[in-house]
Amino acid sequence: MKVLVTGGAGFIGSAVIRALLSGRIARVVNLDKLTYAATPEAIEHWAEDAGYAFEQIDICDGPALRAAFADHRPDAVMHLAAESHVDRSIDDAGDFIQTNVVGTYRLLETATAYWRELEGEAAARFRFHHISTDEVYGALGAEGHFTEETPYQPNSPYSASKAASDHLVRAWNRTYGLPAVTSNCSNNYGPYQFPEKLIPLMIINALEEKPLPVYGKGENVRDWLHVEDHARALVTVLTEGRIGETYNVGGDSEERNIDVVGRICDLVDELRPRADGTSRRDLITFVADRPGHDLRYAVDSSKLRAALGWKPRETFESGLKSTVAWYLEHEAWWRGILERRYKGERLGLANPKKAG
Ligand code: NAD
Ligand code: DAU
Repeated sequence: MKVLVTGGAGFIGSAVIRALLSGRIARVVNLDKLTYAATPEAIEHWAEDAGYAFEQIDICDGPALRAAFADHRPDAVMHLAAESHVDRSIDDAGDFIQTNVVGTYRLLETATAYWRELEGEAAARFRFHHISTDEVYGALGAEGHFTEETPYQPNSPYSASKAASDHLVRAWNRTYGLPAVTSNCSNNYGPYQFPEKLIPLMIINALEEKPLPVYGKGENVRDWLHVEDHARALVTVLTEGRIGETYNVGGDSEERNIDVVGRICDLVDELRPRADGTSRRDLITFVADRPGHDLRYAVDSSKLRAALGWKPRETFESGLKSTVAWYLEHEAWWRGILERRYKGERLGLANPKKAG
């Protein structure tokens, strides 16, 4: 099998590529624009592998997409390319609409035209796997979980753009018969996550003795999933998922943000103690809330577990500990990003007065 992975230089896409290649599950074509968020170092090890090819392409570029499909003739597409950071979508939604909505449309058009030309077994085998987020379902109160039947109620420009892309994929399946499957996942963490996201930002700031900015009161809850557990789930959905279905993927690890940040302080203290032995919890600083901040996410992944037999291997405790250790060991990687691409500044407050 040859899989065309869009966004394969990103945090999750690179974990998927490592899973596909190290497990000898498929050959890979990585199609990525290489935006600010790309981390090609995460797949450096595989760059010369005979089963790996790279194309620097914007998914909004129809002719370039058609050429890539014609040249590589994939058996499946895993679509992860996206603008992924909620705070940036609040500052400026333009790139989110372009990549997540228009880019998904161009990719669907290209994949559908390509699939229609396939014959027999090749046409029957073809899959389009769209990777999306639990944020399309909106926010939960204190109780309940998102299931595949939960109505869509996106609240941020990011989640609205992902909801739009989910609807496009559904329509291309229902209208044109494209053999598509979608998965909606909770918050990922693990190696090579860009330091704009909560967990890597807090690890790095704690190491650097900088303030740890917790939005609002820190009571918002996320359901944390280790990126390698997600990558295994995605491979399972690609190879065994039913056409036209959606599958939720969650870690069963609900945590309040303030508790996540507290745990990170304790882990950094354990692995790199301060000279005076005090706790880094004194760096925690409550800051203005994110506009439209969803209170709680919790994902019911029982469909994926029961139908396809997937379950996470990491607990949040084991996964967070190895993630903190990984960032300590990969200082050169994140220092390069801090120097050239993102210095850790607050994002997502561009229009605070407009927010409800
Ligand atoms: P990321 O921001 O780390 O990586 C995105 C990748 O897509 C980058 O390599 C970037 O260069 C590429 N890209 C962006 N625009 C592109 C374009 N126009 N053309 C081609 N490539 C482009 O994102 P991630 O965290 O790895 O997320 C991957 C996917 O998973 C996204 O679709 C996201 O919505 C979804 N998702 C993420 C999470 C999470 O917690 N990170 C959870 C659920 C779902
Ligand atoms: O739920 C899946 C989604 O998870 C994905 O679709 C997104 O691509 C991914 O970015 C993530 O979105 P979140 O907004 O939940 O992730 P983020 O890491 O930005 O924030 C996690 C929580 O931490 C959220 O409640 C906001 C809060 N936060 C975040 C940052 C960066 C802080 O309190 N302080 C911070 O500095």
